Parts: sequence; C-alpha cells; structure tokens
Amino acid sequence: MKKQLIAGNWKMNGSLAANEALLKDLLAGLNAPVCQIAVCVPAVYLTQCQKQLAGSAIDVGAQDVSAHESGAFTGENSAAMLKDLGVRYAIVGHSERRQYHAETDAVVAVKAQRALAAGITPIVCVGETLQEREAGKTEEVVKRQLAAVIHLNGHCISEIVVAYEPVWAIGTGKTASPEQAQAVHALLRAQLQAATSHADRIQIVYGGSMNAANAAQLLAQPDIDGGLVGGASLKAPDFLTIIAAAQ
Ligand code: 13P
Repeated sequence: MKKQLIAGNWKMNGSLAANEALLKDLLAGLNAPVCQIAVCVPAVYLTQCQKQLAGSAIDVGAQDVSAHESGAFTGENSAAMLKDLGVRYAIVGHSERRQYHAETDAVVAVKAQRALAAGITPIVCVGETLQEREAGKTEEVVKRQLAAVIHLNGHCISEIVVAYEPVWAIGTGKTASPEQAQAVHALLRAQLQAATSHADRIQIVYGGSMNAANAAQLLAQPDIDGGLVGGASLKAPDFLTIIAAAQ
C-alpha cells in the first residue's frame, strides 16, 4: 500500500534562526513516522534546510520551479538547480501563483514537465475558487487543471503528486469537510485512472486549513493520501500531530 505524504508549505515565512529552531523541534519530535514527510521552503533556504535534514526522514521541497530550462530568466530557479541542491519535490501551480503570478494551466503543465525531467516530483495543485464552487463548477475546474498536466506529460504522470486545494479553504480556517474533499479526490483519481494504469500509486493530498484537530478525519478518507499543510506546518507541535495522524 502506498504511504501517505505530509508536506509543509512554508510559503514566504521563515528566517535562518526560525527555520533552524523549527526543524530541530520537528526532528526531535518525530516518532518513527509511517508516512513520507517533506517541507517546501523558500528557495533561499533550500540549502540550509537540506543540510539540517540530511539523513533524516524529512525531505526538502521547493515552492515553485521555472518553466524554462536555463538562460536569461532573471530571478528564476531551474529544475536542474533544484536537483543540484538535493531537492525532492517542487510545488507547481499553487493557487497563489496562479492568482498573483498569472500562471496558466499550460505554464503549470510545463513546470511539471521540467520537474519530472530533472527527477523532481512535482506536487501539482488544483482547486476551485468559492465562486466556482457556488456556480457548480468544481469538477470542471479541477479536471481542466489536471488535464493540462496529463496531456503534456503522458505516462510520466504516474510520478507526480496531486494536491487538491480548494482556494476558499486556504488560509481561511474553513476546511473542506472530509466528504467534500473525498468527493473531489475520487474524481481526480478516476481522471488519473483513465490516463495511466499506475493511478493507484499516485498520491492525491489535500490542502486548505488542514490542522492538528481536523487532520485525522481528512486523512482517513479512502482517496486522501496525505496533506499539503500551510499555516500549521510552521508550528512544530501541530505539524507533528498531523504527521502522527497519517498512515
Ligand atoms: P493553509 O494550510 O494555511 O490553509 O494553506 C494551505 C496551502 O495553501 C498549502 O499549500
């Protein structure tokens, strides 16, 4: 059976001192975890975190990757550079990047492709806004977002992680109910099954106000294979509780 994945997304938070303290507390509190664990940290801290976590059960991830291979793209980090640092995962298509950096489905698909080509696992985020949910468009939106990645990447999609992150649940304290999340995860699973015979090994994780109190119920759903955790991943006791709730 595949393991669950609990990944923290630190977003634009942290400092050398705060990161060191947080990782120290996480490492001290890890109690023979059964799940996979990662922290997706700001690019400037990848080296620091990679060094501190070397040989531990916690992998390091980036929060984005360039859609370009190399060259004159000021400020960007290529997949090869991330690989060079020992990065295992890269979040692509987070709703904050789609919203604030105008990332389209097509760009997200290319980013996933760059990550895969470099041997980095892309954590592909999909999710509807509140307006789209209320208009009954959840299925259409998440399927369109995932379809772009499937079409460009073909059989390689068996190597991705999918994160369902309803935009209305991110940073709002409003979590999707376990039933709401499970329903969308089942749709995504079916879409992956139609595209690859290895769909069952693809982790589909949930993100959006997952916390120490609601994680166990969400993680108990049959098609929820882990969590992409924002705010709660910045507090070691909360993140450790979520890790302990995973299977
Ligand atoms: P919160 O857990 O803070 O709602 O953030 C979720 C998220 O966006 C993870 O990528």
